[in-house]
Amino acid sequence: MSDRQYHIVVFGATSFVGEILTRYLLQRHGVGGDLQWAIAGRSATKLGALKAGLGAEAETLPVLLADAADDAQLRQMCAQARVVVSTVGPYALYGSPLVAACAQTGTDYCDLTGEVQWIRRMILAHEDEAKASGARIVHCCGFDSIPSDLGVYFLQQQARERFGAPCTRVKLRIKAMRGGFSGGTAASLMNVLTEVKRDPSLRKVLGNPFALCVGDDSGRPRQPEVRLAAYDEEFGSWAGPFVMSAINTRVVHRSNHLAGHPYGRDFVYDEAMMTGRGIRGRLTAAGIGAGLGGFVAAAVVPPTRWLLERYVVPKPGEGPSPAAQERGFYDFRFIGTTADGRSLRTKVTGDRDPGYGSTAKMLGEAAVCLAQDLPRERKVGGFWTPATAFGGQLIDRLQAHAGLRFEVLD
Ligand SMILES: NC(=O)c1ccc[n+]([C@@H]2O[C@H](COP(=O)([O-])OP(=O)(O)OC[C@H]3O[C@@H](n4cnc5c(N)ncnc54)[C@H](OP(=O)(O)O)[C@@H]3O)[C@@H](O)[C@H]2O)c1
Repeated sequence: MSDRQYHIVVFGATSFVGEILTRYLLQRHGVGGDLQWAIAGRSATKLGALKAGLGAEAETLPVLLADAADDAQLRQMCAQARVVVSTVGPYALYGSPLVAACAQTGTDYCDLTGEVQWIRRMILAHEDEAKASGARIVHCCGFDSIPSDLGVYFLQQQARERFGAPCTRVKLRIKAMRGGFSGGTAASLMNVLTEVKRDPSLRKVLGNPFALCVGDDSGRPRQPEVRLAAYDEEFGSWAGPFVMSAINTRVVHRSNHLAGHPYGRDFVYDEAMMTGRGIRGRLTAAGIGAGLGGFVAAAVVPPTRWLLERYVVPKPGEGPSPAAQERGFYDFRFIGTTADGRSLRTKVTGDRDPGYGSTAKMLGEAAVCLAQDLPRERKVGGFWTPATAFGGQLIDRLQAHAGLRFEVLD
């Protein structure tokens, strides 16, 4: 790897989130310092405009050109990079050739996908190649699923220290969050619905909490799922569905699977939004469920989908304003319970809006962690999750640089 010119190449630097990531890396590492990095994409004009907007400091920032569908260009990019961090999405549409190139050329890779069906396809197609080449492939390095996956990892570490045993039941409840979403995220959601319409068997994959535990046939305990308003005694609050739980829970179970079940083989995990007490809490929880159901129903029928795409969801390249990113935040609460009934409460919080301001920082730190903290003797090639790839090293980075906090409450 030492012959590779760059520690990190940001592929898709012109995307909404890629630009925030580029600004973050520039502010953290500058150009030509401890971190050798470059930006990449398919359009020299757009990349040039991005660089021009970054000011004098970015003048010497190297630029590479590659189209997501051009294998030769992707391999050329990989040959120069220890880590490729990609924000070119929807990943199910554009991301497969890059994952193949990274797995085959021994290039480390991380991204922001939340597309379970695509991750599963990539694992099945390229895990053997990644193991053979030494490439560490880490999907889901943004809001989905770092706070959940590292939040559970942190809680379990505390449980082992305090109780000498893991928590076999963990609940995550989102106490508060503020943020918007971008064109790329909207396109990814729409594409999942299109794929399911084309291939209804995908419903089974998407509905399976263990969809990413590829090759694990051990007994699998039933997993709860908050779909409608439900009162949660332990949190003293009503709860409604959390849209990201469909990816986060799969990633957390894969972490448990890859690490040899340190959370227990009977580990049960779910996520939901806390909506408060009383009738207001109940109505809000019901409203979230109805809203999500309504959105999905509208997005699968052509005329209403057209209306959504035309008037409601952001276009590619659009997303929350810098002021909205600055005002955003999130507050995740966890309760873990051991098999013999002892319990522990922890929390994970982040500044900036979850999907962009905070996500770009998480992705940047994950990429630097891959490039600088994880020698290949310690972490071999394969498809890892954030918790199994980075564990406590990324928690330290996120707390020191990216505005996240991991705390024990009681
Ligand atoms: N997990 C999370 O928390 C999280 C948060 C935010 C976003 N995301 C995901 O991140 C992805 C990016 O979102 P976004 O809103 O930033 O996207 P976006 O603004 O729509 O940008 C898409 C990017 O893909 C590039 N692209 C498209 N086709 C390409 C090709 N053939 N070759 C090379 N580049 C190509 C575009 O390049 P041009 O500029 O040249 O068109 C652009 O840079 C999405 O998949 C989204 O779901 C995840």
